[in-house]
Amino acid sequence: MVRDVSELSPARAAPPREQIPPGIRALADYERLAADLMPPASWTYLQDGTGDGLTVAQNRIAFDRIGLLPRILPDLRNATTQLDLFGQRHAAPILLAPVAYQRIAHPDGELATIRAATAMGCGMILSTLASVTLEETAAARAAAAPGLGAPPAALWFQLYMQEGRADTLTLVRRAEAAGYEAVVLTVDASIKRTAFALPPGVEAVNLRGIARPAHTSQVLGPILFGTPLAQTTPRWEDLSWLRGETRLPLLVKGVMAPDDARLAIEHGADGLIVSNHGGRVLDGMPAAIDCLAAIAAIVGERMPILVDGGIRRGTDVVKALALGATAVLLGRPQVHALAVAGVAGVAHALLMLRSELELAMAQLGCTTLADITPDRLTPLR
Ligand SMILES: Cc1cc2nc3c(=O)[nH]c(=O)nc-3n(C[C@H](O)[C@H](O)[C@H](O)COP(=O)(O)O)c2cc1C
Repeated sequence: MVRDVSELSPARAAPPREQIPPGIRALADYERLAADLMPPASWTYLQDGTGDGLTVAQNRIAFDRIGLLPRILPDLRNATTQLDLFGQRHAAPILLAPVAYQRIAHPDGELATIRAATAMGCGMILSTLASVTLEETAAARAAAAPGLGAPPAALWFQLYMQEGRADTLTLVRRAEAAGYEAVVLTVDASIKRTAFALPPGVEAVNLRGIARPAHTSQVLGPILFGTPLAQTTPRWEDLSWLRGETRLPLLVKGVMAPDDARLAIEHGADGLIVSNHGGRVLDGMPAAIDCLAAIAAIVGERMPILVDGGIRRGTDVVKALALGATAVLLGRPQVHALAVAGVAGVAHALLMLRSELELAMAQLGCTTLADITPDRLTPLR
């Protein structure tokens, strides 16, 4: 079979995949199937880390080194995975990470993802580089929610600072007007090399009308210092400025160093996301999970801390919470499930992860998320 990126053109008539295939028992099964379904160029873009992939590997190795110590005979009668974040109820401490260009995996792209997240009561963070508009995504949530008899799951907007502040502000105002409940400022990927040519029909639609959108027009050449790009990358003062411009909770995504956690708080962050961007920006960074405890020690109870990178099992969620996370984000696996089975796939992936989390909590004797404490962990030899 000949496969190329044109297979993904929305104009092509291949029916989108909507059925959960038999035999899927874990997120890894979706990854295996998606590898065969997605065109090679899109698959490489989705999966690859930067450099030699050291950090991508670390994100998994680190979780696998952490062991769990069970506690027996717990009373599970009132057990729950529920969480309140910024005044909103979440069914589980699992949100969908911002992942760009989801129409490379399925013609409905982010619309399918938000429908699945809403059905499962899980939050979603929409990327600035989403392939459907932020307004359409919010409308899809609103349309999906009434049938559930529950308030809609959280929808946050992930912001990349644009070259001009007016353009950045336009995105923020649009997100506010569309009813997004928080802004996630990603600070770790202002400078990034990518060689991926988007398939026809897939684009960063939210950046239409922005003359020189950051991340799409700026192709990084061999030299950075002294170039116009180096004049415009975001700085700490831009975080303070943004803080003053919106009343929405503001989370900073891409914090790995304790000193940066301190600075982010000083500059007005309401929440931190410990993340190495799934190993896509600086190879050689440690696993995000390995940086979490030191940051949690600094932040204390002051604000939520989220973490992502390598979360693939309910046991990974437990490990992250035991080390100080309030919740976790799921990156690539949402796209694997989307490619294989659309809305149903993403909802199923979230269900499997939550179900694994519940089982792990039961085995560890934890009836609420607050019970997931460091004494549940033990190193594996
Ligand atoms: C294909 C792809 C696109 C991404 N796009 C964005 C983005 O637009 N904004 C952002 O903040 N993070 C982006 N990320 C990073 C994710 O939000 C998240 O940090 C990472 O994928 C977590 O690691 P995991 O894939 O191992 O779960 C992207 C990641 C992938 C794999």
